[in-house]
Amino acid sequence: MTTLAVPATLTSSNEAIRQDTYNDKVVKQFAVMTVVWGIVGMAVGALIAAQLYWPELNFGIPWLSYGRLRPLHTNAVIFAFGGSALFATSYHVVQRTCHVRLLSDRLAAFTFWGWQAVIVLAAITLPAGMTSGKEYAELEWPIDLLIAVVWVSYAIVFLGTLVKRRVSHIYVANWFFAAFIITVAVLHIVNSAEIPVSATKSYSIYAGTVDAMVQWWYGHNAVGFFLTAGFLGMMYYFVPKQAGRPVYSYRLSIVHFWALISIYMWAGPHHLHYTTLPDWAQSLGMVFSLILLAPSWGGMINGLMTLSGAWHKLRTDPILKFMVVALSFYGMSTFEGPMMSIKTVNALSHYTDWTIGHVHSGALGWVAMITIACIYSMLPRLVGKTQMWSIRLIDWHFWTTTIGVVLYVASMWIAGVMQGLMWRATNDDGSLTYSFVESLNATYPYYAVRLLGGLMVLGGMIMMAVNVAKTMAGEARTVNVIPEPA
Ligand code: HEM
Ligand code: HEM
Repeated sequence: MTTLAVPATLTSSNEAIRQDTYNDKVVKQFAVMTVVWGIVGMAVGALIAAQLYWPELNFGIPWLSYGRLRPLHTNAVIFAFGGSALFATSYHVVQRTCHVRLLSDRLAAFTFWGWQAVIVLAAITLPAGMTSGKEYAELEWPIDLLIAVVWVSYAIVFLGTLVKRRVSHIYVANWFFAAFIITVAVLHIVNSAEIPVSATKSYSIYAGTVDAMVQWWYGHNAVGFFLTAGFLGMMYYFVPKQAGRPVYSYRLSIVHFWALISIYMWAGPHHLHYTTLPDWAQSLGMVFSLILLAPSWGGMINGLMTLSGAWHKLRTDPILKFMVVALSFYGMSTFEGPMMSIKTVNALSHYTDWTIGHVHSGALGWVAMITIACIYSMLPRLVGKTQMWSIRLIDWHFWTTTIGVVLYVASMWIAGVMQGLMWRATNDDGSLTYSFVESLNATYPYYAVRLLGGLMVLGGMIMMAVNVAKTMAGEARTVNVIPEPA
């Protein structure tokens, strides 16, 4: 009961060597901000979920209005929470797998402060109503420029560290991180090409259908590379580490990598079914989305099978439980996505809460849960501790999050299918059976369930903050250790 699975106890001398060898400071900073922005982003998510139930919750104040807080939520959870986690884990993994310190401590510090500046500017300008109007790329041009500079610096630090590695092999997690970093740079720079008309307003250089296609080429690949490839990088390092097993199939991980990155690029048109986009382009997007199921499931299976011979650890290690549930949600959302890309299915799902259910099955179930697991797995090592302050609290976090996500996603699935069916129902004379308001009234109970689920997830994040703070403060706990398998 007292031996530990990960990692070995650090003595003061090897602690000093570790600090000398690796730049853990920037990793720690990003890890802490992941938790902070997770709480902020999810609190705003809970607020807008509450506003959909009680619209008067904006109190008539413009900057509390739903239209302004929604992009604040998406930017905070994707770029602040998810982004900070990606910076933290990629910097951690590249150093550990290349046996070398980051290329430049100064440039790494610049990426930390630069990224935090972007987030703070977003938190000010979005509620103030400044927006380019492009989903997931709402920030105005001066902030776009700052993002480009920070991101290119990130690419230099990460790729430069890979170049100066002391081992010849590049571990597969780094391939995923590198693809994510390079692609996001290209996506951001191309999609944000805009003409400024004042310090706070710009217009896209694209127009009409081309604008829509560029936007969803960006939007879909933001999902594929920001919300998927980078997190798969995390998965390929931390799941084997936590399970104490090698990756199930290294060959499959390489096939997974090349198939995923080459197919994702073409699937964007599934966001534009039944629009002015040429029909052949819509069908192309649909076909590539269907093919995408194969590499996605290959990755999920590779992750889950890594636990072969270590399944019993799930009884005692809540971090592994987070990982397994995250991978399961990854599998579910990457099955659901291809189905929703079929035009006839999309005719039902588009504009409904089914899409919101799909989004959060991927974003909360996969992205947030794998992030939480990786931070729990990595943080003690960064601060010279053997493990988190309380394993029991991680278990509580696991259950509140899992139940919360299921409540969120299931309620939105039911609401979405119901809305789609109500909107298309017609009477014998061809008139609509239901008015829009009737479908809205029918949705209210599901909005209440979604809010409850969201609050549970948020509650879990607050437990995590307590656990992180106590671990960093060095509070000693001798009970609740993760036992080594018999
Ligand atoms: C406590 C947790 C969360 C709650 C309560 C929550 C709530 C919401 C709500 C109410 C919406 C607007 C839905 C609508 O307009 O009908 C939304 C949208 C969205 N959320 Fe969350 N959210 C949470 C966590 C997350 C996380 C962790 C992510 C990403 C990592 C995320 C990504 C998104 C995205 C991408 C959208 C836009 C979806 C679309 O436009 O189709 N959310 N969220
Ligand atoms: C094989 C993988 C996937 C495919 C083929 C896919 C496909 C789709 C489709 C067809 C839609 C609905 C488009 C519409 O009707 O407007 C959609 C929406 C969305 N999906 Fe996925 N999906 C996949 C995986 C994921 C994952 C893993 C995540 C999150 C981590 C995710 C996040 C989103 C988001 C944020 C949207 C809403 C975009 C918006 O309208 O704002 N997807 N996806």
